[in-house]
Amino acid sequence: MPKIISVRGLEILDSRGRPTVKAYMEIENNIRASASVPSGASTGRSEAHELRDGEQRYDGLGCRKAVANINKSINLSISGKTFDCQADIDEYLLGLDGTSNKSKLGANALLAVSLAFSRCLALSNNKPLFSYYQQLVGSSLTHLPRPTINLFSGGKHAGGQIPLQDLLIVPMQKRFSEVMECAYAVYQAAAVQCLNKFNMRALTADEGGLAPPFGSLTELFDTALESIEQAGYRPGEEVQLALDIAASHFYHDDQYFLTTQGSSGSQMIDVLSEWTTRYPIRSIEDGLAEDDWEFWPKLVEAVGDQCEIMGDDFLCTNPERIKRAVSQKGANALLLKVNQIGTLSEALKAFKLAKEANWKITVSARSGETEDNWLSDLAVGWQADYIKIGSVTQSERLAKYNRLLEIEQETGFSIKD
Ligand code: PGA
Ligand code: ZN
Repeated sequence: MPKIISVRGLEILDSRGRPTVKAYMEIENNIRASASVPSGASTGRSEAHELRDGEQRYDGLGCRKAVANINKSINLSISGKTFDCQADIDEYLLGLDGTSNKSKLGANALLAVSLAFSRCLALSNNKPLFSYYQQLVGSSLTHLPRPTINLFSGGKHAGGQIPLQDLLIVPMQKRFSEVMECAYAVYQAAAVQCLNKFNMRALTADEGGLAPPFGSLTELFDTALESIEQAGYRPGEEVQLALDIAASHFYHDDQYFLTTQGSSGSQMIDVLSEWTTRYPIRSIEDGLAEDDWEFWPKLVEAVGDQCEIMGDDFLCTNPERIKRAVSQKGANALLLKVNQIGTLSEALKAFKLAKEANWKITVSARSGETEDNWLSDLAVGWQADYIKIGSVTQSERLAKYNRLLEIEQETGFSIKD
């Protein structure tokens, strides 16, 4: 195994113009690679700690401390060392941090280094990054992940026009390039619908979803179905829907405020169940609040056989939370965000737990992204069922879709049913 020569950090800006962290690593034989980490806005309470400066610049969001941790303590400790594999360096980084939530060095610092190392090793083995990630899991490569694509947004990703965070389309074509064509057509049709209905161009949310001032959630669903039809596709058969309810963000005082009138956990389940009978909904993410352990199993019982019940803020890519959810039958799908946990190896542990439980897995971007595209290689290498990147606009999203188009061409793979 080649020795690490050095690692350096840089404060760069994400798609919201906020600071984030990029790491540059050099290993023996003149191999150099870099990687950038994303950042969420609608975050779960159990996420690993993203280290921010808390000073005046960038409203306290500066990442100079995280960068200094890469340049000083991490660089000093790992330079000149050899690590046999990804697990070895990740374990070493965890030991260096020494806290349970990575608050000393910052999950943003650790993940940037963990990812840069993965790129260096892929280069040194002369392999595409997805093959390196596939080696970590050990299963064979047969297909591409199916994208779930933001169409309309609200909640914390937009001005809160609707409480729901995202309505996504799930194009069902077999070829990735056909999925992209379909997503483009539906998005354009939706933009025209918004113009006609609201007499103005819709604002766009953080991940590029349209955010018009819908008067009701019925209007949201109807406009989605109309857009699919206008684009020339059949809702249900050719294009399904996925929802990110992000319920934690409208839950307070033990009530869900989907409307101004609060509702209980069981009323919330009734609403979600009704939607699954009326609309072609394939998955529901964070349908309940992140600590509502009592009602998650009831939601799975109510609709889990016809629809994927996926935990994002609920599980935070955290192996302990996933184990608990598996044993309580509190979900049947995982949204995996590597920076929620902070190293590749821990994310892999989360992935394996979900796989063993026969859950569906979506590898997901964050609302604050960079132009880096490692996520696409990860979703292919780990053979995720889905990838959630955002809308089909904005270069930080397209960098990842474009990488998948490249991988499609390189491998000839289709999307799994
Ligand atoms: P976040 O949102 O990156 O702002 O957390 C994405 C999501 O909730 O899926
Ligand atoms: Zn989410």
